[in-house]
This record gives sequence, structure tokens and C-alpha cells, in this order.
Amino acid sequence: MVKVLITGAAGQVGSELVKLAPADFEVVGYNSSELDITNALQVQQIVAEQAPALIINAAAYTAVDKAESDAERAYAVNETGVKNLAEAALAIGIPVFHISTDYVFDGTATEPYKETDPVGPSGVYGASKLAGEQVLANSGVKHIILRTSWVFGAEGNNFVKIMLRLGKERDTLGVVADQHGCPTSAASIANVLWQLAQKYTEEGELTWGIYHFSNSPATTWHGFACEIFKQAVSAGVLEKAPVVNQIKTSDYPTPAKRPAWSVMDCSALANVLGSGVPGWQQELSTVLNDLNA
Ligand SMILES: NC(=O)c1ccc[n+]([C@@H]2O[C@H](COP(=O)([O-])OP(=O)(O)OC[C@H]3O[C@@H](n4cnc5c(N)ncnc54)[C@H](OP(=O)(O)O)[C@@H]3O)[C@@H](O)[C@H]2O)c1
Repeated sequence: MVKVLITGAAGQVGSELVKLAPADFEVVGYNSSELDITNALQVQQIVAEQAPALIINAAAYTAVDKAESDAERAYAVNETGVKNLAEAALAIGIPVFHISTDYVFDGTATEPYKETDPVGPSGVYGASKLAGEQVLANSGVKHIILRTSWVFGAEGNNFVKIMLRLGKERDTLGVVADQHGCPTSAASIANVLWQLAQKYTEEGELTWGIYHFSNSPATTWHGFACEIFKQAVSAGVLEKAPVVNQIKTSDYPTPAKRPAWSVMDCSALANVLGSGVPGWQQELSTVLNDLNA
């Protein structure tokens, strides 16, 4: 059995990583109260004691708007926390798989972002995640950085859950239609990370570095909301769909600026894994069935 230590195990992606672990892996999952990645000593002690073959970091400060007024905490988790994990991994000679975000880009592109495209985050959250990428890349640890976008799942708080709640409360909604991106299920992120873990344990190596991964095709938050309501009604999760009006980003001001374009080119990872990119509509249907069960 190959032992894998997972941080942030109660989060959207962390909980799917624990749930979807292949049989040949032994998972030791820690939630934030069991392992605080900002605590260097605790990280070192637990990593040394467990001696895993791999760390998957699913822990992060993900409150995008709150980060604007809470930069210290965002950097503590998203940069220092990653540094602590990298140092502990280096001490026992194991790799780290880490998750990052489309928010490292400035969102002004019109073509899908490649891994090599210039970064330029426009908010504290994106900047703190970029700092985490850099600290890991410069640590000397073998690493995978998986940048993903618009995460949803049955666990935790996300756009699907917010839409379902608003759909119950209101007859009409306005949803932003000028931000483009790719919704991505937490389960599909977990599956891809496990495929990479399997490849690493079978081959003893990987092509390390940054990869983009999201579900396809690209849409807008408005397009995503319409599909959520369509599927929720046919799955019996909602009685009736509200009217969903298109609004502009400027009609819905938020403390953190959102990228207008978040679409990423995921072909590099598909080449490494020899598999296609899952469609988010199908992933959404699985999540709605889970929520209905
Ligand atoms: N959500 C998205 O739309 C999105 C988009 C792109 C990329 N990502 C990235 O995907 C990854 C997973 O995100 P997610 O959606 O699964 O986030 P999530 O549901 O917010 O989960 C993050 C987990 O990290 C834990 N955590 C926070 N601070 C910690 C600390 N100091 N030590 C240990 N654990 C800590 C949280 O625990 P508490 O709740 O107890 O604080 C939470 O369980 C993150 O790296 C995120 O940046 C997410």
C-alpha cells in the first residue's frame, strides 16, 4: 500500500480525494483542526511520523472576497502553509501535489490560458495562491501544481449550492454573463490527482510542474446557472426554475475583482494522462443526484 497524506481533507476537493482514493493507496487525511498547515512544527512532526510516499495539499484559504481585507491570513495559509509542507516533504524526500487557481491570471486574454502564459493576479487571493506556487516551485521538492477553476461538488459551499438556495427563494435572479470560465467538479479534480499519483507510483517519476485542469466546455456564470436550474428541475431537486436574467460584472460589485476570462488550455495534462477532459454537465448531474440522495 502506498501511503498518501492529504491536507484540507474536509474541503470540497479534500473530501473527494479521501472518498475516491484507489484501493492500492492508504490515505491519511487531516482536516484543518487536526493539521494546521500554517504551523511549521506540527507539519514537520506529522509528516515525519506518518512518513507518506506523497503529500496532496487540498488545504487553502479560499474566501476570495474576504481575502481582500484579510491578506495576512490568506498568505499565511496559501504561501507559508505551502512552504511548510514543501520543507517537510523535502526532509523525507517525497513529492507534493498542490492545487492552484485560474485567478493567478489577470483575465484579459481571449484564448485559453496555457501553463506558460504570463501570470498577473488582480486580487489578494490570486496573489497569495501565486506566492504558494512560487514557494513550492523554488523549494527543490518534486511537485505537481494543478491549476483549476470554478469548483463545485456535493460537499462545502459553492455556486451550485448557492443557485439551488436562491432558486428556492426567488422567482427571478440576475447572474453575471460577462465572465467566461469552466466549471469543474471536485470529484474530477480528485480523480485526476489520483491518476497522477498512480502514474508516479507505477513509473517512479512524473513530468513535474504546472498543469491546467478544468471540465469543459467554457461557459459563463449565467450559462452555468441556467444549466443548474434545468438539471435541478428534471432531477426533482427544485420544483420550478426561476427566470435567470443576464447581468454585467459591473452590476454585481464584489470586494475582489473577478477575471473576465478564466478559460484554461488543459491539453498538456490530457497528453500526460492519455485521457480526455470530462464535461461539467455530466459532472453536475452526478452532484445533483448526490444532493438528492
Ligand atoms: N473553490 C473554487 O472555486 C476553486 C477554484 C480554483 C482553485 N481552487 C483551489 O482548489 C483547492 C481546493 O479548494 P476547495 O474548493 O476544496 O476549498 P475549500 O472547500 O474551501 O477547502 C479548503 C480546506 O482547507 C482547509 N484549511 C484552511 N486553512 C487551513 C490550514 N491553515 N490548515 C489546514 N487546512 C486548512 C479548510 O478548512 P476550514 O474550512 O476548517 O478552514 C477547508 O476544509 C484550493 O487550493 C483552492 O485554492 C478552488
